[in-house]
Amino acid sequence: MIRGGRAALAVALLTGCAAVPHATPEDAARAAGSWPGISVADLEAGRSRYVARCTSCHRARSPARYPPDRWGAHLDKMAERARLSPDDRDLILRYLVTLAGRPATP
Ligand code: HEC
Repeated sequence: MIRGGRAALAVALLTGCAAVPHATPEDAARAAGSWPGISVADLEAGRSRYVARCTSCHRARSPARYPPDRWGAHLDKMAERARLSPDDRDLILRYLVTLAGRPATP
């Protein structure tokens, strides 16, 4: 059991997953202020698109690396490189902006 846990942690660290947090109900509640009706599943869909489409040239940057209002410009530039569909761009943007806007942990 402990071994399995360590292996999973090692995989998470190697693939940089720790930098790409999963969305929570609190995230969805905050995001609904900007996108009414948005769900955890919507944010998680954005997360998986982000991991799938934005890591072929460089590692995934943590959403917290930039303030929420900076992600739009980065994504506009990278959407072309990643050949994102408008739907994927929206999903990824909502995920990044929402997670970047998490309140600082005390
Ligand atoms: C085809 C390769 C490629 C793909 C796919 C790609 N990027 Fe990038 N990205 C780069 C390169 C090269 C740089 C560094 C040079 C630059 O900033 O132009 C970069 C830099 C960045 C930066 C830092 C910009 C800065 O000014 O410091 C961010 C943020 C970023 N990428 C986000 C993303 C996101 C989000 C996606 C998915 C939509 C993505 N990237 C997909 C090639 C790519």
